[in-house]
Amino acid sequence: MDSPPLTASVVGCGTGGRLSLEALSASPLFRIVAAADLRPEVRESLEREFPDLRTFGSHQEMLAHCPTDVVCVSTYPPSHESIVLDAIELPSMRGLLVEKPLADAAATGRRILNAIKSRNLPMVVPHGLRTRATSVEVINRVLDGEIGELRSIEVQCDKWDLLNAGIHWLDFCLAATDETLIASVLGAFDTSTRTYRDGMQVETVAVTYVENVKGVRLIVQTGDFIRVNTPGKKTLFRLVGTNGIIEFWGWERGYSILNAQYPAGEVIVPEEFPVFGHRRHLENLAMQIWSGTPEYRLPESSLTALEICEAAFLSWQHRCQVRFPFASFVAPTPSEWEPGKPYSGSGGGRDGRKLG
Ligand SMILES: NC(=O)c1ccc[n+]([C@@H]2O[C@H](COP(=O)([O-])OP(=O)(O)OC[C@H]3O[C@@H](n4cnc5c(N)ncnc54)[C@H](O)[C@@H]3O)[C@@H](O)[C@H]2O)c1
Repeated sequence: MDSPPLTASVVGCGTGGRLSLEALSASPLFRIVAAADLRPEVRESLEREFPDLRTFGSHQEMLAHCPTDVVCVSTYPPSHESIVLDAIELPSMRGLLVEKPLADAAATGRRILNAIKSRNLPMVVPHGLRTRATSVEVINRVLDGEIGELRSIEVQCDKWDLLNAGIHWLDFCLAATDETLIASVLGAFDTSTRTYRDGMQVETVAVTYVENVKGVRLIVQTGDFIRVNTPGKKTLFRLVGTNGIIEFWGWERGYSILNAQYPAGEVIVPEEFPVFGHRRHLENLAMQIWSGTPEYRLPESSLTALEICEAAFLSWQHRCQVRFPFASFVAPTPSEWEPGKPYSGSGGGRDGRKLG
């Protein structure tokens, strides 16, 4: 590699930020020089672990005193926008990593993406399944038609919620469907335990039912206690096609496949890529920077995944199917209609025996 390493900094150094910090320090393509975190104890431990790192108590201070080529935004979703907008003002800025979910609302996520695009800056969103040998091989097999025409992807996810983990699963589903446009979303959310996670209110248990314009169904069950129906698994993906089935288990290596080539079913464990996770995304960002060709397919998919999450929440809140494009959704007037209650014989409505 001829180009000198790109200088990099990280804002928000908790679990997500550390994945970026570790990836940057392991990669020869980067030199990690600065980090910002609100918490003094986090800054102290970073200084012990990364002796050459300069640390700051706010991103503004960091950007002013230690501008870098690349900034990784790893705070909670509600603060992503203001940090990104400040970072892209830096004359040194050449590319960004923005954590998933891009924002706490799809409209904000769209503003972030548009602001970055308007500067022609490369950007990555670190969805790990895009970088793992198992999930990448599953995507390729499905797109190559090895299980026939894809009909549905079912996801069962124990102990995690739609917005924080489900967004990775939805991004995977979009990749496995070649990012085919979404037609509609229906969501149901039990919130009885008032569970929160990663700075957000989340569901106790939920199901998100998505249909794309080709009729493929994406069914995602998330929540605090989900009984995954392959024993011993915490997360399950089941991809059903007209000529076969593939199942895999989130971050775990390996998948099972049943199709014409493997009529008795086979478990295949691909060798992991030498570089995966945040480092693979960041090195991909470096390539985009050096080639001068930003590629927005991944951030766009992440934004669609966020739209699906928000659509599911709105569907439950307004008791309606949310049709896409999501940006044109208008909430219906509230309805007193209660499925399962006797119809009084008056008061309007539509006769379901005369649908034509
Ligand atoms: N891609 C992944 O695999 C992955 C994994 C974990 C977390 N994440 C994402 O990372 C983000 C953060 O989650 P987390 O689990 O790291 O949370 P966390 O609580 O572990 O860490 C967040 C850190 O950000 C700091 N912080 C908050 N606001 C800040 C601000 N305005 N300026 C500077 N520092 C600030 C906090 O002090 C804290 O240290 C979320 O969007 C989460 O979804 C992604």
